[in-house]
Amino acid sequence: MNELDSELVRGQLAVMGYRFVDRPEAAQVLVYNTCSVREQAENKAYSRIGLAGLRKREGEQLVLAVIGCMAERDGADMIRRHPQIDLLCGPGELDRLPAMLDNALRQQVVEIADRIALQGSRSRRTATLSAAEDNLEFLDLSRAFDPDGAPAGGRAAYVRITRGCNKFCTYCVVPQTRGAEVHRTPDAIVDECRMLAERGVIEVTLLGQTVNHYRYVHGMALTVDGQEAPQVGPGGAAFRPGRASEPASDARRTTTFADLLRRIHDEVPAIRRLRFVTSYPRDFGDDILDTMRACPRICRYLHVPAQSGSNRILKLMNRGYTVEEYLAFVDRARSALPDVAISGDIIVGFPTETDEDFAATKALLRQVPFKNNFIFKYSPRPGTTAIERFPDDVPEAVKRRRNNELLALQSEVSAAVHREQVGRTVPVFVEQISAKSSRRSARDGAGGLGLTVHGRTLATVPAEAETIQLTGRTATDLIVAFDLPSGERADDWIGRIVPIAIHEAESLLLRGRVASARVNAKASDNAS
Ligand code: 5AD
Ligand code: SF4
Repeated sequence: MNELDSELVRGQLAVMGYRFVDRPEAAQVLVYNTCSVREQAENKAYSRIGLAGLRKREGEQLVLAVIGCMAERDGADMIRRHPQIDLLCGPGELDRLPAMLDNALRQQVVEIADRIALQGSRSRRTATLSAAEDNLEFLDLSRAFDPDGAPAGGRAAYVRITRGCNKFCTYCVVPQTRGAEVHRTPDAIVDECRMLAERGVIEVTLLGQTVNHYRYVHGMALTVDGQEAPQVGPGGAAFRPGRASEPASDARRTTTFADLLRRIHDEVPAIRRLRFVTSYPRDFGDDILDTMRACPRICRYLHVPAQSGSNRILKLMNRGYTVEEYLAFVDRARSALPDVAISGDIIVGFPTETDEDFAATKALLRQVPFKNNFIFKYSPRPGTTAIERFPDDVPEAVKRRRNNELLALQSEVSAAVHREQVGRTVPVFVEQISAKSSRRSARDGAGGLGLTVHGRTLATVPAEAETIQLTGRTATDLIVAFDLPSGERADDWIGRIVPIAIHEAESLLLRGRVASARVNAKASDNAS
């Protein structure tokens, strides 16, 4: 979500004539997009804000803007504590940023209130209201897609379908920082996908905090000129477990998440891979699974965080499901889509988590073939229910130990999931030169490999002798590394889907070889 916000802001500023530089020291305007989900991310942002403060104190003319969730959560207090900050802009007000920057650059003396754009109390509107006055929609709609800044050589992009969240997991700041769930209109989403496809994008990832809760009831939210507008979501009450996407009882025409997937798949066939994150383990209807099964270009991949394997902890987290219900969902998904890959998130060290609770989480990891899990140590966040209700009583050392144990266990589970792919030839969407090769070529310089003794370069091996490693992903989101065939240019391969024969599995990635010569790789562009 943050990555997309950064791209949208960048696009807006580029249109206004801002130029971008590679190093922060060379910039006259610094915009930091921040995350509040965990304390560690906030500390990192504060250290950058501190550095910008030093530059200002040394007399540099610099405009410092802090945008995103930290701005929203800390609010005006942040500007008071860190007076070097010129502008604060929450994730719900990003459309106002360019004008605010403009003022700051012209050094207009503006009231502190005009240097702050936050959703504040507007963030949780009543659930039935339309969000028609919602200017943020313009930011997505006016998207100036820049292929040079986009991933996979400009051939992959994110599209937001829902903003905000109506769940109240007790540990989480998102409902406060991003506000109530607002669904974009299906037409706006399909149009954005079509625009991206016309500009060469072949992989779209739909974004929402709980994407499977997408639901647009037509005819309820209209702009003044009668167009459909973004709409505040109905909340969990509109769903019943397992039957998420049934038509609304008032029989108004509704576009469910399954309908939306089907529309994008059918109306924009140039999108060869359609993904979505993040799914909520409750209210994931069979209709979504049926649509995934029927549509070959929808990736068989679900990121569906369990958070814990203990029912007691899940209850304290207010997740609204039990481990048994989570497992029943996994069974349902795997019987509908036998080749589906599942990943998740786990929090260790939630208040009161005992060894027994933790053992239950380990049992869950042994039971579900997760391709990976992002594992987080619980971090108490100001303003959440958990920080107020439950003391952070699991010692840091215990959190660290549980984190490491879980990482080790997940690594075994991931290796087993990856091993199943050995011997297969799979289509891989090539994303980038692997970090390993890029580090190597940066170190060796553009001219090739230097053999150096006592600081003197004795010989230079031509650059062509170097093997370049590329990485990409399978449709099930497994990472694959392979060598670029000799004589080929990496740029010609990035952003394409090519067949790779897998010969080795590790816990984090698969290794393979290009399954056929270049001609075939080109031809395979038609097969996803
Ligand atoms: N502490 C630790 N992890 C958290 N997450 C969200 N809030 C917290 C917190 N306070 C994790 C959850 C979520 C992921 C995005 O971040 O696992 O799914
Ligand atoms: Fe946070 Fe829960 Fe919403 Fe996810 S579903 S964004 S964890 S409140």
